[in-house]
Amino acid sequence: MQVEEYNLIKREVLTLTGIDLNFYKDAQMQRRLNTFLLRSKHDSWQNYFRAIRTDSAELRKLKDYLTINVSSFFRDTEKYKTLKEKVLPELLDGHPRLRVWSAGCSRGQEPYSIAMLLAELTGDFRRHYILATDLDRSALDIAQAGGPYTDDDVAHVAPAFRQQYFLTRDGKHWVSNDLKRRITFRQQNLLADRFETNFDLIICRNVVIYFTAPVKDKLYQDFYRALRPGGVLFVGGTEIVPKATTLGFRPAGISFYRRNGKI
Ligand SMILES: C[S@@+](CC[C@H](N)C(=O)[O-])C[C@H]1O[C@@H](n2cnc3c(N)ncnc32)[C@H](O)[C@@H]1O
Repeated sequence: MQVEEYNLIKREVLTLTGIDLNFYKDAQMQRRLNTFLLRSKHDSWQNYFRAIRTDSAELRKLKDYLTINVSSFFRDTEKYKTLKEKVLPELLDGHPRLRVWSAGCSRGQEPYSIAMLLAELTGDFRRHYILATDLDRSALDIAQAGGPYTDDDVAHVAPAFRQQYFLTRDGKHWVSNDLKRRITFRQQNLLADRFETNFDLIICRNVVIYFTAPVKDKLYQDFYRALRPGGVLFVGGTEIVPKATTLGFRPAGISFYRRNGKI
């Protein structure tokens, strides 16, 4: 893709969707854009942008495609095991009401997984605050509606949790109202909007992989500030926080980083 063409796309995308592609890795994003145009019925970006100015459904498709919201319940089961057996019990010790944030929560699979674990560990999970945010409105709409989820989405949900928290209708799965009410969903751009603070646990998994290195560094600094001392950042299976110790984190197992200070 030519530089001028990419600059034009970035300007149009920012105006139409509010997404600033300058924060995303160029090569990866250009590959995605090329695939998107090939799949659309338009032969050039000029024609595409002309058409979507008056077609909100098409515009939504572009937004969905750019934000890449693949997820599932208990994605990466080993890490959720560590979370349940080590990280959450340590956090709960002396802090019975946890503040948890799922940043880039997609369709809600991640915050609902955490809510189920907290329910199992602490019985009454109503006392915890679970914030779940994402940039993508369509993903959040599904999260807030509690579904529908596919068989693949729920493949790693334990049978006891399935029985307690899910309803299945016409081959699709929905989470119970009880679970739904426990999460605060909010639309938020991690690269532009203000963060709440004093979290015990921040989960940001498979979101920053698309961001440039400086954007990632700034985001990890912001997460550090949003954690309470002793709070934990939980990242994706293939992600490593660069210069973690310089930032003030210490490793707390693979994919977990603890903010320095009293637990
Ligand atoms: C691949 S999904 C990850 C979902 C979940 N965290 C997981 O690991 O299963 C990435 C999510 O990040 C969201 N996202 C991308 N850029 C974002 C931004 N700037 N602010 C907030 N969310 C963003 C996308 O909308 C998408 O839902």
